[in-house]
Amino acid sequence: MSSAPAISFVKPGSPAKGTVVVFAGEGLVLGPQATALGVKALIEKAATLAEFKAKPRTTLDILAPEIAGIDRLVVVGFGKGEKLTGQDWQKLGGAAYGALRRGQDATVLLERPVGEGGVDAAEFALGAMLRAYGFDKYKGARPGRNDEESEAAKKPPAGLTIAVEDSTKAKRAWAARSAIGEGVNLARDLVNEPANVLGTVEYAERVKELEQLGVTVEILVEKDLRKLGMGALLGVAQGSVRPPRVAIMTWSGGKAKDKPVVLIGKGVVFDTGGISIKPAAGMEDMKGDMGGSAAVVGTLAALARRKAKANVVGIIGLVENMPDANAQRPGDIVTSMSGQTIEVLNTDAEGRLVLADLIHYSQQRWSPRLMIDLATLTGAIIVALGHHYAGLFSNDDPLATALIAAGEASGDRLWRMPLGSEYDKAIDSKNADMKNIGGRDGGSITAAQFLKRFVKDTPWAHLDIAGTAMGSPANDTNRSWGSGFGVRLLDRLIADNYEG
Ligand code: BES
Ligand code: MN
Ligand code: ZN
Repeated sequence: MSSAPAISFVKPGSPAKGTVVVFAGEGLVLGPQATALGVKALIEKAATLAEFKAKPRTTLDILAPEIAGIDRLVVVGFGKGEKLTGQDWQKLGGAAYGALRRGQDATVLLERPVGEGGVDAAEFALGAMLRAYGFDKYKGARPGRNDEESEAAKKPPAGLTIAVEDSTKAKRAWAARSAIGEGVNLARDLVNEPANVLGTVEYAERVKELEQLGVTVEILVEKDLRKLGMGALLGVAQGSVRPPRVAIMTWSGGKAKDKPVVLIGKGVVFDTGGISIKPAAGMEDMKGDMGGSAAVVGTLAALARRKAKANVVGIIGLVENMPDANAQRPGDIVTSMSGQTIEVLNTDAEGRLVLADLIHYSQQRWSPRLMIDLATLTGAIIVALGHHYAGLFSNDDPLATALIAAGEASGDRLWRMPLGSEYDKAIDSKNADMKNIGGRDGGSITAAQFLKRFVKDTPWAHLDIAGTAMGSPANDTNRSWGSGFGVRLLDRLIADNYEG
């Protein structure tokens, strides 16, 4: 967890000091602000030496230029300046920020050196804010350790003063966009936090803090869950000394009569596999098995911060999957809240058990306009899609289409996967209504079919984010293991389809 960089917007014109960021289009074309600095010849010389071609998002670092007051000039490539999307501006902000050093504030002369159209200062700032995130709260405390890395971690992230033509408009837009940044970084914090620190109870307490933003938070404890008959969720939880929690977050920014959009998250704070225990290598990654829930929490925080005009409920199931003396066994049959019975043939297929009860409960309690669940559900989705797209399963084509569009626009991309009765057969059980595994083939699909058995007529989508919530490759706007995947997606989906 690192504090967010201070970001402010000013009109162009005040003399730039310290570290200054400018933009150059291909051919080293500069905009009016950079031109006024009188750095054209200097940039041309440095660019030749460094073979800098001003390709999009590449940077050229010029130290101690002989210009009054300026210590460092960072030139960011703008390419040919063709039409730039919000995503492109965000990446540009990330790339520019990546060239800065902690503890050294910078002035950004934000302008378009080439091409038509304006600048998106808020999107640029969001990219910078997301790039600035690092999970370093546990670093740098070792006595006597004084290496560069831990020293750097102690410095505040570089603050930005962004000089931009329409600074008033930029400020206003940033008030809403920074809410998204806060939401993404909250989700990252939750995913990165180790399970000894973030257990079920601690997690529920963190969610309670959303009340400060105007979100209503309700925490269901074990007794409540038992009364509701959530036998599938409770079966997973029974192997851990840490009691289960279900956290419900309500944001009522829409019309009172509008049914809510319900977001459901898998919150397995640690997944050992239970009695069907996982191999040791890489098991530490299962601290991130609550990535679906983190996306839901981050989204609710973002919606509340930007006062979204929509009714949205988030519900997350917090359990720990452990192999204790009281853990559920392979072969156990549990009764879900829906009344359907489940033969638990593999205790490591626990996420679907948690989601099954939350899906049923959500429909009964809210009759949602639609529901979307997010879960780090299967290793098989990583085999299928790698780390660049999350798997999308849906019973509703318009919802799937809207989600895919929100994915492209936000950068949290989705690839639709099939559902069908042929796959559904794979989870029929000899001894109960269904079993919780469907064999190795099409593992993500049979997991989705399992969830579908708990969905009635509600438009529903399931996002398998096992490959994207954590451990995805570093990029311009993310250097963290926990990526915060899903927050920008859901915020965008709601903004484009369910507000106003
Ligand atoms: N949490 C895992 C899925 C997972 C794997 C997430 C790798 C992120 C990275 C899930 O609970 C699980 O264990 N799934 C099993 C299902 C199997 C037993 C049917 C899996 O994918 O192997
Ligand atoms: Mn598992
Ligand atoms: Zn799991």
